Amino acid sequence: MIEIKKLRIDKILSSMGIGSRKEVKKYIKNGLVKINGEIIQDPGFLLNPHMQEIVFQGEEIRYQQFRYYMLNKPAGVISATEDKHDRTVIDLLAPQERQDLFPVGRLDKDTEGLLLLTNDGKLTHNLLSPKKRIPKTYFAKVQGQVTKEDQIAFEIGVVLEDGYQTLPAQLDILSSGDISKVEITIYEGKYHQIKRMFLSRGQKVLYLQRLSMGNLKLDENLATGDYRPLTQEEIEKIIV
Ligand code: URA
Repeated sequence: MIEIKKLRIDKILSSMGIGSRKEVKKYIKNGLVKINGEIIQDPGFLLNPHMQEIVFQGEEIRYQQFRYYMLNKPAGVISATEDKHDRTVIDLLAPQERQDLFPVGRLDKDTEGLLLLTNDGKLTHNLLSPKKRIPKTYFAKVQGQVTKEDQIAFEIGVVLEDGYQTLPAQLDILSSGDISKVEITIYEGKYHQIKRMFLSRGQKVLYLQRLSMGNLKLDENLATGDYRPLTQEEIEKIIV
């Protein structure tokens, strides 16, 4: 049984991506919204969206308390909800979809790939909790050769420049040469962790892309910079 307190109709509609709070207020005042078959014109009208039927311009609106999006983060944007200087991952969303969303953790400005955006604080907390040891897999291009010794060092745990010893991580060497290609799975999320792990081995990461987080994989058909809602199946995979 979902327990939910009563919410304002304007808040519900804007959180469902119908429009900004201001636009939604106008729609309501103009009589475009029906609740249980009756037009209501008060934007502050309180209702339980799981118990009462909401219709906007003839279409039923199914309320979802939590929303989940997969973003294929491009380089050059920061993982925050707002910033004075840089574009953020939230700026990549259509304005009506931004409401309440925040990124689950951070990818560096120059890192690409899977970033989950949601308004579900509890899930975010669980996914980021060090106790849960959620695996995160990255593809990286590294300057110079990556060797079996690096693989063993990561498996044992390396000591970063600040003295922190990392948890065991798996390193798959896809190719080794002037620029090596690897996949690496870590179970924690320290600041610049992968770059610093390679630095501890005297190597520089040239490119970094997150491929997965827990059981959630980056959709290969999602172009860099694009996003889409998670499917029900994906939501179930990510709930921890
Ligand atoms: N490790 C890094 O160094 N950067 C990221 O963005 C993610 C993991």
